[in-house]
Parts: sequence; structure tokens; C-alpha cells
Amino acid sequence: MEVLRICGEIPLHGEVYVSGSKNAALPQFAATLLSHEKSILKNVPDLSDVQFMGEIISELGADVNQLDKTTWEINPANISHCAPYELVRKMRASICLLGPLVGRLRKAEVPMPGGCVIGQRPIDLHVRALEGLGANVELDKGKVVVDAMNLRGSHIFLGGRNGSTVTGTSNAIMAAVLAPGSTKIESAACEPEIIDLCNMLKKMGAKIKGIGSHILEIDGVNQLQGCTHEVIPDRIEAATYAIAAAITKGNILINNVYAEHLGSFINLMNISGVAVSNSEINQISVKSEQQSIQSFEVITLPYPGFPTDLQAQCCALACKAKGISILTERVYPSRFMHVPELLRMGADISMEGASCMVKGGINLIGAPVMASDLRASAALILAGLAAKGKTWVQRIYHLDRGYDSFEKKLQALGANIERVPQSKLPKSF
Ligand code: EPZ
Repeated sequence: MEVLRICGEIPLHGEVYVSGSKNAALPQFAATLLSHEKSILKNVPDLSDVQFMGEIISELGADVNQLDKTTWEINPANISHCAPYELVRKMRASICLLGPLVGRLRKAEVPMPGGCVIGQRPIDLHVRALEGLGANVELDKGKVVVDAMNLRGSHIFLGGRNGSTVTGTSNAIMAAVLAPGSTKIESAACEPEIIDLCNMLKKMGAKIKGIGSHILEIDGVNQLQGCTHEVIPDRIEAATYAIAAAITKGNILINNVYAEHLGSFINLMNISGVAVSNSEINQISVKSEQQSIQSFEVITLPYPGFPTDLQAQCCALACKAKGISILTERVYPSRFMHVPELLRMGADISMEGASCMVKGGINLIGAPVMASDLRASAALILAGLAAKGKTWVQRIYHLDRGYDSFEKKLQALGANIERVPQSKLPKSF
């Protein structure tokens, strides 16, 4: 086990390069199964979740080769429809295997994804989509068992109590592209990662209209070809570095980022006094040296609303903003596991239902803290970068699931952050 040791209060400066998007790459690994031909994915982030997905796809029978740090070749000529429990249970995102297995093989057996600390992770909308396409779906001994011999195009409404579903939309699209007839998906998610998946599927020969909107129209085809596809940059990683610059009152340049994917975030930053602008193509600059951060309000919503995957990081930033900030979760109402750990660092945060009120302008004090999930890990690191003294972030295996070389990239921006063995954790503080 390792921990991250951070010495805070160092303004960040310099340039950072964003890796490929985890939430685009994972469904795209699954999408390669839709064809019996070889596909190549480029700009894939180096993450444990990606390694897991590669292992799962290999267990299904595909020939999987990592050609270099960011390039994978997948040859799914012969695959099984049963996903392995031991691997799937480790990663929720493996639920997006359902769509391609149903589309290609007309059957699937995928273990139910476990819950996690950010909240319940139901799959009722995934089931609704597959049943809408004529599949018979049963939950049997913790597995989702799908029989789709009568798969056919249909009209599906994917809206749920918390808005659209990202991986549910991926599954619906990947089943529909090989379903005879036409499919209309209403209330589809339109995150950039969904757009990127559709663009990859079109390269494979899929017929999809309405890409980027909440209404998709798909004409099923008999088979799809392999393709070579480059994963889009990770907008959440990019915004996390922007917040790292803001919370340390630094100035940085973030390369390999699509500013158009971060509209709501960039707007929030500029309103709160952090100068974020896209200075060059695929680059954003963050200047906060001279600015004092004003309090802000965040309400998380499906895209193009404010991303729930940035709420925890903004909670840390709010500790340094002047005044009281309010952050409300409309996607995962209980996604506040980072709050108790921020309180250990001297934060002044109170909870009211799915909202937290953060009293800013305080001095964060370094402390030993425990990561609980991917984005909470990032929030605690950001708080450590701004805190007086040393912060020790434990259980950083959560971080390694979704941030590629996080501490190395922060070191390159001047942060005093180091990955050390758990044994280095002081016995007392
Ligand atoms: C994707 O998860 C992302 N993961 C999450 O990122 C992200 O937080 C989430 O979308 C929302 O943007 C990947 O893409 C791999 P949802 P997903 O289905 O698809 C409810 C990260 O940190 N819902 O869009 O699992 C659900 O409870 C991760 O990178 C149903 O009610 O999320 C939630 O309230 C965390 N029924 C809302 O919809 C369903 O069948 C959005 O969930 C499915 C979802």
C-alpha cells in the first residue's frame, strides 16, 4: 500500500498534458466487441480501470495487446457472452459490456455492478433499454442474464429520476447498432464521451443520427468493421488541474484539452474570479495568481450541466473562496464522502440534504486523510496542495483508477507531492 505525502502552499506554474478520457475509453473497449475484426484504440489513459477492462475483454476470448503506454489492439474474433465475476465486480463500468454482447451475440451474462460510496448505482434504465429492443432480461444470482434472439429496433425513452444515464445510453446504442430495423433513443445522455463513442461506431460502419443531442436515431446494420480510433482528452482530469492551479493561486497552461467540453466549468471558474481561457487550440490557461476566489454555487446535472465528477474538487476549492459556497448534487445526492476528510483539515462545511455549504476563506491544515473514491481522492490532494504543512492521502488505489500519473504531473507543475510506502506514515501527528 502507498500514500501520497503533500507539502502544501506552493503555487503551481508550468504546463501539463491531459491524458485520454477514462469515461470515453472504457465503453470504447467494450465497443470493439461489436465487430469480429481487429480494432486499435489510441490515446488510451494508463489507468488501473483500463487494465481491468483489458483483462475482462481478454477473459471473454478477445486477443488483447497493449502496443504501448496509450495504444491497445483488440481482436475479438471469438468471444464468449459470459463476463467473469471476479474482474467485473471490481469495476462498475464493466456494465457497458451488456450492449455489445447483446448486439453481437444476442445474449449476455454480466455480473450486477456493486454499489459504491458515491451512491446507489441502479441499472433499471439499462434493463429498460434492452427490454425495449426485444431482449428478455433476468437478474439471476447477482448476474444480469440477457436473451436477445428477437432483438429488433424500437423507440426507447431513457430518462430516469436523476436525468439521463451515461453508460445506459452507451449500452442502448451498442445494442441498437446491430439490431434489425430503426431505433430512436429519447432522453439519451449527450456527454462528450457518448459523442466520442458514436464517432467510433460510425467509423465501424454504424448508422447513427442526432449525435450530440438527447435524441438519437439508429438504423441497424448486419455487421460492423474494426477501426482505429483516438480517445478524446479527459475533461475531468483537465478541470482537476485547473482547480489545482486556482487553489494554490498559481498560473498554468493545460494542453490537449477541448475547451468546448468544459463550458459549464469554465463559466463557473470565471464567475468565481479564476481567469480560465482557451488561449490556443486544445489548450486552456488558468491564471489565479492575482485573483481572490469568490464564493460560488454549483448544481450538478447531466451534460451540458455542471459535471458531478467535479463536485468534490470544487468543494475543496470552495474552502479557499471568500464567503459561503453552496454545492448541490442532482446526479448522486450522497456523493459527499470527501466532506468528513476535508473537515479533518480544518474545513468549515455543513450538510443539508444533497447540498453542502462551505464557509471559505479559512486556512486548511495538513493532516492524514483517507480517500474513499476516485474524485474524493483528487479533492483531498487539491486540499493538501493548499494546506499548511503536510497532508498524507491514504488508499490512493482509488486515485489510480482514474488519474494517469497524477502526482508526476503535479510535480512537473512544482507541487511538493510524493508517493511513499504506507510505512512512512507517521505513527502520531
Ligand atoms: C458515468 O457513470 C460515469 N462513469 C461516472 O463517472 C459519472 O459520474 C456518471 O456517468 C454521471 O456523469 C463512466 O462513464 C464509466 P449514470 P454511470 O448511469 O453511467 C441514475 C467517475 O468518477 N441511474 O449516468 O454509471 C444513477 O443512480 C465516474 O469517473 C438510474 O437511476 O452514471 C445516477 O443518479 C463516477 N438508473 C444517474 O442516473 C440507471 O439504470 C446518473 O447515472 C442508471 C443510472
